[in-house]
Amino acid sequence: MSKSQSNGTNSSDESLIMDHAYDGIEEYDNPLPGWWKWLFVGCIAFSPFYWMFYHGGAAGRSVEDQYGIALAANTRLQFAEIGELSPDEATIVKYMHKDSWVKVGESVFKANCISCHGRDGEGKIGPNLTDEMFKNVNKIEDIAKVINEGAGGGAMPKWSNRLHPNEVVLVSAYVASLRGKDLAGRIPEGKKIAEWPAAPPEEDEEEKEE
Ligand code: HEC
Repeated sequence: MSKSQSNGTNSSDESLIMDHAYDGIEEYDNPLPGWWKWLFVGCIAFSPFYWMFYHGGAAGRSVEDQYGIALAANTRLQFAEIGELSPDEATIVKYMHKDSWVKVGESVFKANCISCHGRDGEGKIGPNLTDEMFKNVNKIEDIAKVINEGAGGGAMPKWSNRLHPNEVVLVSAYVASLRGKDLAGRIPEGKKIAEWPAAPPEEDEEEKEE
């Protein structure tokens, strides 16, 4: 076959030539194999069911949702290690200096807050969280209070019923850690507040033990 196609003159192939010619160009009758055509038809028949299952809007089926669920489950597992955190000054300051927990807070932020506060907290609809000025925050524990209760008459939604108490503390620690990065975004709003309290001194020893 390949031989006859390469020189195109084998007379035994004459019967395969279709009986039309355009500008002297002739065409062999070379249909696609049956298995190929049925595979193609099968893919098309399968696609609406696939699409409806994964993209039809049912929660928890897409790869992205599955990842979020796995991440949240993993985070909750880790919570067994730290018990239930209370949203007070000492706890937020303590976790603000534990990098691996700040990362958990960051994942909470990325999952829930960037639509309004920007990818890195630079501000969008909500204020810039990387500058020195705050509207609703005077002390570090006010961050958790604003997150739990909301602010601005609901413009900042309340999260107490949507986040685990530990997630609130850890995302507060992450937000507190953003201060001073001064990312370009929304202009500073509110008033300048006092520095965050320093890390408790015994923290260093604890950090070394880990
Ligand atoms: C629907 C948009 C929206 C979402 C989502 C949102 N925020 Fe806000 N946030 C706002 C707005 C608007 C304000 C300012 C409220 C005001 O004007 O008093 C605000 C204020 C804040 C403040 C106080 C800032 C200040 O200057 O006093 C903190 C802290 C904060 N948000 C953290 C978060 C965190 C953490 C999340 C995610 C868990 C989050 N926000 C999700 C809109 C949002």
